[in-house]
Parts: sequence; C-alpha cells; structure tokens
Amino acid sequence: MGQKATERIFEIEAEATVEVEAGENVAGLEELRVKWLGRKSELTGILRGIAGLEPAERGLVGGSANKVREKLEATLEARIAELSAAELETSLSTDSIDVTLPGSPVRAVGHLHPITRTRRLIEDVMIGLGYQVMEGPEVEHDFYNFTALNHPDDHPARMLQDTFYVEPGGGAPAEVGKQDVLLRTHTSPMQVRAMEAAPPPLFMIVPGKTYRRDSDATHSPMFHQVEGLAVAEGITLADLKGTLLAMLREIFGPDREIRMRPHFFPFTEPSVEFDVSCFKCGGTGQLGKGDRCNLCKGIGWIELGGAGMVDPNVFGFVRDAGYDPDSVTGFAFGFGIERIAMLRHGVGDLRLFFDNDVRLLEQFS
Ligand code: DAH
Repeated sequence: MGQKATERIFEIEAEATVEVEAGENVAGLEELRVKWLGRKSELTGILRGIAGLEPAERGLVGGSANKVREKLEATLEARIAELSAAELETSLSTDSIDVTLPGSPVRAVGHLHPITRTRRLIEDVMIGLGYQVMEGPEVEHDFYNFTALNHPDDHPARMLQDTFYVEPGGGAPAEVGKQDVLLRTHTSPMQVRAMEAAPPPLFMIVPGKTYRRDSDATHSPMFHQVEGLAVAEGITLADLKGTLLAMLREIFGPDREIRMRPHFFPFTEPSVEFDVSCFKCGGTGQLGKGDRCNLCKGIGWIELGGAGMVDPNVFGFVRDAGYDPDSVTGFAFGFGIERIAMLRHGVGDLRLFFDNDVRLLEQFS
C-alpha cells in the first residue's frame, strides 16, 4: 500500500512537471496549480490518507508527498515568472508609446507678448471708434520723418545723437545723402504717407516700432508708439479731447478723466501734452489715509503722450492729394505702447519687456 502510494507520488511529479513546463500562459498555469496541488488534487488526497497507513509507512509517504509538493510549487513559480517576463516583453514592444504626443498635464503653449497684447487692445479700441490701422516703414526717409512734419532744417531732433541714420544701399541716387535715410524716430511719418495715399476724410492709427539713441529704465533704443490722425472738415480740439478720453477710458477704466496741457510739437498747432487721471488713487494723489500715491507721485495725473491740431504747413505737403489747409482740419496724437503696458501691469523697468525672461513673460498669460 505504502509502496504503491510512493510510486504514484513520483508519477504525479513526472506528469505534473511535463504539463507545467509546457504551460503557455500564466492563467493556464494557475489552473494547473489547482489541478495538481489544489484541495481536490490527487496529491492532497494522498496526504490526507496518510493517517490510514501503517505507522511505519507514514514517514516515507508523507515525506515524499511533501517533497514533491514543494518541487512542483517551485517549478510552477519558475514557469510563471518566465511567462510573466515574456508577456511583459511582448506588451512593451506591441503597446508602443508615442513620445511625440503631449504629456499630461498638457503644457501651456505660450501666449502673446505683453507689448503685442497692449498694442492689440489699443487697436481694438480705435477700430471701435471707426479708425483704420496702418503700418509704415521702420527705415524711413528724412523727408517723412522730419521735413514734411514741419521740422526746420536745423531742428535738434535731426541731430545724430537722437537718431540712427542709415547709409543708403548700393544703387541709391547720387543725391541721396547719408542723413536722408534713418530709422524712424516716431510713427508720425505715416501721417504724411497716409494722406498722400488717400483723400480726406481720414481716420487712422499707426502702431509700430520706433528708434532713438536712448537707454534707461523708461527708454530703450527700440520702442513702440501709436500714432493717430483724424482729418475731415470741421474737426476741432474738442474732438481730439473726446477721442482721447474715449480711448483712455477703455484702457484704464470708465472713471478716468483727461487733462491737456499746452506744449510744442513742430507738426501740430496748437500742441498739447495729455494726461490721464491716476487709476490707482482715482486722481486724488493720495492712497488710504493720506499716503502719497506712488504711481502718479501724488499729482493725480499720469502723463501719456503728445497731440494737437495738424499744422497747416503739414497739409501744405499733401495739398495735391486733397488736403487743402483752408478746407480741412485735423488732429494728431502719439504715445508709447510700453508706457501703457508698464502702467497697466505695474512693470517698473521698460527693459524687462525685451529681456524675454520667461519668468516675467509667463505672468501675462
Ligand atoms: N511724435 C511725437 C513723439 O514721438 C509724439 C506726438 C506728439 C505725435 C504730438 C503726434 C502729435 O501726432 O500730434 O514725441
């Protein structure tokens, strides 16, 4: 009896080992585990029947059964480990990952530069008021930049210190002198170009880059301006004031007021500088209980730009295009985009806009 049981145990070992080694997947091996080692398996049955054997045989049968059980267990584990590794290998090579897809969470795709955003805000406001947006050349003729804007020949704005002059390229007419081509010092030259191109009425703004030999916290050699020009019959300084007020209220809030102070520009007569009431202190110059407003320095007003009624001498340069100084009048204005952006976003140094440090730029997303 004991002899037979021991023989059967080793047969079980042989049969089970063959099946386990031939197993092709982890799930199938779990079934084999139940078949050969489970509660209802033959081996378990033999172990349970040990109590009914002769005492002398119990040790041998029990020992063999337990040894075979352990061996089968080890063979199963080894085969399962082998198959899991192979299964992982296949899934890694078939379920390949597309590393060009965006990661999770998806990174922000960047955004417009604060100067571009401010420029577009101003454009939107002015388009809403019926203005067209024009652009002009950054490399400009002295004629449009100065002469046709009524700058006399000896005007200091023409000085080499203020202006980047450009050597005309090869093939330029011999009479084009060194100082006749320059990087525009303001966007105003487009006033004359626009009037040359179309008769009145004309309502247009010119945003764009301008250049001067300047560099400090509030000036950079390249900066941006917006020029505005309105020409039609019967335009007055009151129209200028109303237009600037409407624009500034859109940019700085509906409670803003505007102030104009007498000034001088060669191409406007009369000329003014215009200020907006401070949006931080509401124009009082004071914050809270008597502290001086640090934005307007306690003045209540913030200086923004220049403006005025178009000087009849400027119309004189475009009389043939339909701008008779006796029948049309107009106003013009100009201001810096950086200054508006600095004020709106509390940026203290204009040069930060052009350092392109993402830590600054990301704050405007
Ligand atoms: N072009 C002037 C400047 O750069 C700004 C300016 C002043 C523009 C008065 C105007 C104006 O159109 O009327 O300083």
